[in-house]
Amino acid sequence: MQKIMPLLKDSDSFLGKTVTLMGRVRSVRDMKSVVFLNLWDGSCLGDIQVVASDAIGAEMGRCSTGDIVEVEGTVVKSAGGKQAVELSASRFVLLSKCPSDYPLQKKRHSLEYLRTIGHLRPRTNTYYAAFKVRSLLSHAIHEFFRNEGFVYVHTPLITGSDCEGAGEMFQVTTLDLANPPLLPDGTVDYSKDFFGKQAHLTVSGQLNGEAFALAYGDCYTFGPTFRAENSNTARHASEFWMVEPEMAFCDLNGNMDNAQRMIKYCIDYVLKHGADEMEFFDKFIAKGVIDRLQSVRDADFAHVTYTEAIELLEKADANFVYPVKWGIDLQSEHERYLCEKVTGRPVFVTDYPKDIKAFYMRMNDDEKTVAAMDLLVPGVGEMIGGSQREERYDVLLRRMQEMGMDTEAYGWYLDLRKYGTVVHSGYGLGLERAIMYMTGISNIRDVLPYPRTPKNADY
Ligand code: 4AD
Ligand code: MG
Repeated sequence: MQKIMPLLKDSDSFLGKTVTLMGRVRSVRDMKSVVFLNLWDGSCLGDIQVVASDAIGAEMGRCSTGDIVEVEGTVVKSAGGKQAVELSASRFVLLSKCPSDYPLQKKRHSLEYLRTIGHLRPRTNTYYAAFKVRSLLSHAIHEFFRNEGFVYVHTPLITGSDCEGAGEMFQVTTLDLANPPLLPDGTVDYSKDFFGKQAHLTVSGQLNGEAFALAYGDCYTFGPTFRAENSNTARHASEFWMVEPEMAFCDLNGNMDNAQRMIKYCIDYVLKHGADEMEFFDKFIAKGVIDRLQSVRDADFAHVTYTEAIELLEKADANFVYPVKWGIDLQSEHERYLCEKVTGRPVFVTDYPKDIKAFYMRMNDDEKTVAAMDLLVPGVGEMIGGSQREERYDVLLRRMQEMGMDTEAYGWYLDLRKYGTVVHSGYGLGLERAIMYMTGISNIRDVLPYPRTPKNADY
């Protein structure tokens, strides 16, 4: 069986050859003397036109959108201007009939409607292209880190730690919720639970990754992460993918340098390997996106400190819903103002107040801010969150105590500072946010194959 993609890409070398194709019927036009059928097999965005007359034409004419067919024929120059070649059919078999209530008839559907048929939507151009970019981006990420000599670590999805300390974790339990074992004080006795203690789905593989960075030097984890934040926004999902590099002997500047090179590498890779898909997005979803990405690939990202960012926002000619003052967590509207109106390109915001960031970030000398960095990008806002890690045992211990953490439970994490400590840094890139940025798709539900969001875990 021949795939359609090479036929369209390298059409000259197929001219005059006989091939057998299998795929789905996109549309049929019966012109009586000749029948045109557009066949698509998923190997690329495009389809190929199949032409026949007489008995085979009559069979093709009985087909409709969605049918699965097998067709053998000769590759010939196309008479129409739309594509270089078409297939002149010599044999045609209907393999599976698709009934007329097939929801994906040849017309435009809204993304909202297509979300309700999540099992069928990968067959549409927009989702086909989105999930193709998702796949390419994942390859690009692995390729970048492998080229840089990083070791790929699989960190656990079930964990006893709360990396971000935000308490936004999904609990994993096999206890009978209707009748849980209780301690004398009436609270649940987790020693009877599956793991002998409370366990959750991970919000980040970072803490586990740090242990490996202190062995390998440079490593990364890349996998699903889970957050039980009840925020129903276009940028938050309850299950999303994150790539998290962790680098020993690397400070905040080295961290940002790696992040910038990684993003540029990914942009370049997707523009090269997903040219058809990116052209599609440029044409139908985000006009000018290819030019925009090319200029991001070719220029340095901007840098501001959090304190500078607050000053810029205080001076801003904008009506923010959330008032701006030093100490606030930047809201999406602030993040987007900074990168869309102030810098007009991706911007690293560094040195956030310690009180709005996680316990593991390295305390700056001012004792008020930490060596954190977020990368904000136009259209999306925060795409990367990272930091230099607190490598000083005493400072980390004090911070954990201040924050009321169970220091015994994190004894292993403190050990990483006790047994030969190292300046180290890392960051997390949200894969979905990166796909949104590169495709211009504005809702995270449209870049996740099966989105999980509050009140939604279909399929
Ligand atoms: O800023 P976050 O919470 O950072 C961490 O989890 C660190 N432990 C990462 C590290 O340093 N290794 O999350 C990192 C990124 C965000 O910048 C965002 O792109 C994405 O993960 N992200 C989400 N994406 C989709 N839905 C959500 N609910 C997300 N929460 C974070
Ligand atoms: Mg963050």
